[in-house]
Amino acid sequence: MSNKLYEKMNLYLANQEVNYLKLLNLHWYVKGRSFFTLHSRLEELYGHTASVIDSVAERLLALGESPVANMQSALNAATIKERSDTPISSDETVELLITDIRYWINDTQEIVRLAEEAGDGVTADQFNDYLGEYQKLLWMLESYVS
Ligand SMILES: [Fe+2]
Repeated sequence: MSNKLYEKMNLYLANQEVNYLKLLNLHWYVKGRSFFTLHSRLEELYGHTASVIDSVAERLLALGESPVANMQSALNAATIKERSDTPISSDETVELLITDIRYWINDTQEIVRLAEEAGDGVTADQFNDYLGEYQKLLWMLESYVS
């Protein structure tokens, strides 16, 4: 009944695992006048992502599912785009983050919907928390560039 939910949660997990390294990439390669702000903000973001990865995996385990826990499987499944090991300007970094955060908002909303359909309020609540954090982050990033 809720296999679709579990599959989607595992895909979300795979994408977040790839996203973790992508945020480190930006943390290391960001250049320009906003370096200090973005460098430290990105550190908070990959820290937050690590805790999302852990709690999504542990929720899957609590539901009797097997979370994706190796990079090869994560990369095979993941749909988010990685970036190359090259410098990136502050403006491009913020643009990329805004694009990715919009993606996370849609993806997170989709899981909330599936969890609600499956009558799984605990999973819905967990992802609603992420949703609120991503919406706040989007507001902050858009304020930063406007
Ligand atoms: Fe660092």
